[in-house]
Amino acid sequence: MAKGRASTIFYCQSCGYESAKWMGQCPGCREWNTFVEEPTDRTSLTGGSGGGLSGRRDRPVPTVLAQVAVREEDRLSTGMGELDRVLGGGIVQGSLTLVGGDPGIGKSTLLLQVCRNLSGDGHSVLYISGEESPAQIKMRADRIGEFSSRMLLLCETNLGEIAQVIRSQRPEAVVIDSIQTMYNENVSSAPGSVSQVRESTSVLMQLAKGLGVSVFLVGHVTKEGTVAGPRVLEHMVDTVLYFEGERHASYRILRGVKNRFGSTDEIGVFEMRERGLEEVRNASEYMLNGRPENASGSVVVCTMEGTRPLLVEIQALVCHTSFGIPRRQATGADFNRMNLLMAVLEKRSGMQLAACDAYVNITGGLRILEPAVDLGVVIAVLSSFRNCALNPRLAAFGEVGLSGEIRGVSMAKQRVAEAERLGFDTCILPYVSAEECRRGSGGPHEGGMKIIGVKTVQDVIDRLF
Ligand code: TYD
Ligand code: MG
Repeated sequence: MAKGRASTIFYCQSCGYESAKWMGQCPGCREWNTFVEEPTDRTSLTGGSGGGLSGRRDRPVPTVLAQVAVREEDRLSTGMGELDRVLGGGIVQGSLTLVGGDPGIGKSTLLLQVCRNLSGDGHSVLYISGEESPAQIKMRADRIGEFSSRMLLLCETNLGEIAQVIRSQRPEAVVIDSIQTMYNENVSSAPGSVSQVRESTSVLMQLAKGLGVSVFLVGHVTKEGTVAGPRVLEHMVDTVLYFEGERHASYRILRGVKNRFGSTDEIGVFEMRERGLEEVRNASEYMLNGRPENASGSVVVCTMEGTRPLLVEIQALVCHTSFGIPRRQATGADFNRMNLLMAVLEKRSGMQLAACDAYVNITGGLRILEPAVDLGVVIAVLSSFRNCALNPRLAAFGEVGLSGEIRGVSMAKQRVAEAERLGFDTCILPYVSAEECRRGSGGPHEGGMKIIGVKTVQDVIDRLF
């Protein structure tokens, strides 16, 4: 590394921000104490002998855009409908997908199941682990099921060797578990450091694009919720999926954060069982499991997760504060939004909420920021404040504005249809959305669903309480 000047650079481990000197706070992501010093190695990124990318070094020739051939059928099904949907319809050939999540959430299990399905369908798959021994992986695989002989396993962390194996084996799909354990000999810093992770990803990206191999990277998440070290990774890969879930609940949610081949607002719901992850096709039913009957402060809202309607329960607990300053807490809902909605309620309906503690919870550990849950929060708070239980077969959705008006939201029909499918008999929704549902003949509400269109918060109080 003796190259005249001592060359080191400081990186933010959270977002990859580069700086010539150490800083206490990162100007990029505002995190504290995230800077680490690493040697600068710029040799291998440009190819040369190191890194050895696609092996081809011809002069680049521009292509006529109109003549670029695209084949739609290049997508491989993962054998799991939930995952396919989040990916935008399956795995794109030559794509690089990052699967992030907390340790123990089930990333390795998910990808092992993908490998099993792909190899079972006759595709060649290579699973590369830098964390576990073949015996450990076999133990997990045994719980999942039988694997075909097209599924190969490699326990290795040296990226140069890995690249050689991928080039000689030419598998259709490769899993790297995890990117933070991989190291490149051309980079002198430790595995998991910003420059190692960046460099490894860039090598794998060029392998993926050059050979048409679909690559999955497992990335660990730090407590801040970003992939450890490099958020830079997110910019380099084609697709970023995050695997989330409550530590104590068995279901897991796979969320698309970035997708160059599809939409990002889809989620997939899975449940961790003894034999691996199982898809949850009927997510609404799952989310409403164990709902209290005839309890005040509980209401079901219809929210949209991508193209799919999902019913979730919102609970509120409002009680007189025993301290000077009332406590407020939101779990799963936006805290500022909750305060705003309570201020609207106080102003428009004259309720004395300022002297009340209030807790709002979206059950099931989901985090929903869609404004369509506003009406649910308002109704739950009202119900708890008045200690008045609602019809358990009531569903609600709608955005609440600052003047207490109930504003229309998108896809009203799908939401009503989902509520009806799960046996709800009444739906309270914005007046404009109710009109929209009525207008379309043959709409879902015709099966006996009672539609209540409301224009203001006062309307809601008049109709429900
Ligand atoms: P794992 O895939 O190792 O997590 P990650 O790779 O994200 O760190 O999953 C680990 C957890 O999943 C572990 O606590 C055990 C549990 N698990 C099951 O409950 N059932 C199963 O069939 C398997 C394989 C794992
Ligand atoms: Mg793992």
